[in-house]
Amino acid sequence: MPLVPARQILDEARKGGYGVGAYNVNNMEQIQAIMDAAQKTQSPVIIQASRGALQYTNFVYLKHLMMAAVEDNPDIPISVHLDHGNNLESVKKAIDLGFTSVMIDGSLMEDGKTVASYEYNVNVTKEVVEYAHQFGVSVEGELGTLGGIEDGVGSGEVHLTEPDQAVEFMAETGVDFLALAIGTSHGAYKFQETPTLAMDIITDVRQRMPEVALVMHGSSSVPQELVAEVNRYGGALKKAMGVPIESIQEAIKRGISKINVDTDGRLVVTGTIRRIFAEKPEEFDPRKYLGPAREALSELIASKMRDFGTAGHARDYDPLSLEDMKAFYGV
Ligand code: G3H
Ligand code: 13P
Ligand code: ZN
Repeated sequence: MPLVPARQILDEARKGGYGVGAYNVNNMEQIQAIMDAAQKTQSPVIIQASRGALQYTNFVYLKHLMMAAVEDNPDIPISVHLDHGNNLESVKKAIDLGFTSVMIDGSLMEDGKTVASYEYNVNVTKEVVEYAHQFGVSVEGELGTLGGIEDGVGSGEVHLTEPDQAVEFMAETGVDFLALAIGTSHGAYKFQETPTLAMDIITDVRQRMPEVALVMHGSSSVPQELVAEVNRYGGALKKAMGVPIESIQEAIKRGISKINVDTDGRLVVTGTIRRIFAEKPEEFDPRKYLGPAREALSELIASKMRDFGTAGHARDYDPLSLEDMKAFYGV
């Protein structure tokens, strides 16, 4: 199966009432772990790369690793997505590499930190939609900003999405799916005491736009056992807290289709490697710690695929090509 546009994967999820995880990757082991989980649970999947990931892998390496995932898993619908594109240039680069989906995060300025105006967001998003749809590539936009700052992504200020403005934004930009800000943030420190999310925003936007797939960023659950494992073996994570799986399931019921997860994968990989270094100080073959880390990551993602309801949906539909999508967009 060739790469599938994310628009199809998410429209199917929206109609089927289940969520699809979009998992961030930076290396071969992460990609293999995700694909192993997708095979085991028969799940469609979105693999996403941030600008930082593309830089880290020198672009071409990540491209070929993703294409290897497609070749190795011909029966699984896979979409390769740019996470938090910051301008048309980053989007062009991803499309040149063969990505079938891109995000333009116009909620922030190009620096990925400063909160942008609504007008700026509409203009940059429109420009990206016009460009990407010529190639049949799906586009994710974002309205409202997340809290939290991770590796320079995020303003640290929270601006929840206003449902009225979401309707306007969709009409003005023509994006394929929309990320809502409902009180989550990137990273391991999402909440001080109790997780609180503005779930009503999802319900409200869903009622106004039943045909649009919605996205939730900052969806790691930060399982306490993973934090404890990192700390037990020499880590120093403070009071970390994420979005409980029950809240994610409720968000899916209310209308979220794409669920972005990065931090949980980082935690499980770090905990596993720290444990092996502590238990076997004589070990120095990278395969002996990267291999178990890959396995642990695959188990974690497989359990998310079951929890999000993605499992079992890999063979529900025939894939659309980018040519089909061009016809759909009328270009
Ligand atoms: O949106 C943030 C993701 O977790 C990607 O993080 O920019 O450190 O790769 P990164
Ligand atoms: P987490 O930091 O909660 O995993 O969120 C990742 C994300 O939203 C990537 O875009
Ligand atoms: Zn994000």
